[in-house]
Amino acid sequence: MSRIAYVNGRYLPRSDAAVHIEDRGYQFADGVYEVCEVRGGRLIDERRHMERLLRSLGELRIPLPMPLSALSIVMHEVVRRNGVRNGIVYLQITRGVARRDHAFPPAGTKPAVVVTANRIDPEKNEKLAADGVAVITLPDNRWDRVDIKSIALLPNVLAKQQAREQGAREAWFVARDGTVTEGSSSNAWIVTRDNEVVTRQADHAILRGITRTVLLDVLKSQNLKLSERPFTVEEAQAAREAFITSASQVVMPVVRIDGRPVGNGAPGLLATALRRDFHRFAEES
Ligand code: PDD
Repeated sequence: MSRIAYVNGRYLPRSDAAVHIEDRGYQFADGVYEVCEVRGGRLIDERRHMERLLRSLGELRIPLPMPLSALSIVMHEVVRRNGVRNGIVYLQITRGVARRDHAFPPAGTKPAVVVTANRIDPEKNEKLAADGVAVITLPDNRWDRVDIKSIALLPNVLAKQQAREQGAREAWFVARDGTVTEGSSSNAWIVTRDNEVVTRQADHAILRGITRTVLLDVLKSQNLKLSERPFTVEEAQAAREAFITSASQVVMPVVRIDGRPVGNGAPGLLATALRRDFHRFAEES
């Protein structure tokens, strides 16, 4: 099956799909994105992802280029045309194409829309989850509005690359006060020795992950002790469990932080159970 991308109103073979050289996403990273999990050909938590998209667009004053109902049709169509059963659908909206000038382009400039879908091998992900992953920690050198899901991801790119070069799957950003903010493409969680589940409060210093939001609902419904607060690297290394969450990884156990084992060095019981049960709580469309 040839791979198809949606670009500004057209479904094109990937090899012909391209954006303009003066797309503000290309020149200024002036745009936002969303990533939804695809499972069994269906979109997971689309409604919440679209709510966050609207918020990101609003914060950057980028108009919504087409109704959400139409965007939804496009995302489902791209998944269908690519035959993706399990993987992700990627949506990007930039401020559009205009002669290069830092200030906003003339009113009426149409935002540019790209939608792609990629397969993820569920078996590979399950194997990763069964073993657990390693993370490294790095100073958080991002701007102070990372609650906006902007395509400007250079610090995240460099952090992820450093993780890979050190044999880890993820890098956790650490604020100046020594507390973990989040991963380069995931939210960070720990379970303390007295079974308190901890993840940082969703302020401007982290992205309010959709997986995080759903998981908080799951944890509340199960009466687990829960705190939305910062935690330090030392606290994480001394924790019973650690894990990360994102649309593409769902719940992924963390077994090593900066080379030190977490708990007994194996995936935690709670993380494993949450991974198994997550989709009972998520919405499908
Ligand atoms: N990443 N924090 C950051 C910095 C992220 O990039 C992501 C998602 C998350 C988790 O959000 P969610 O649960 O809504 O996926 C947290 C996506 C998957 C990506 O960039 O590919």
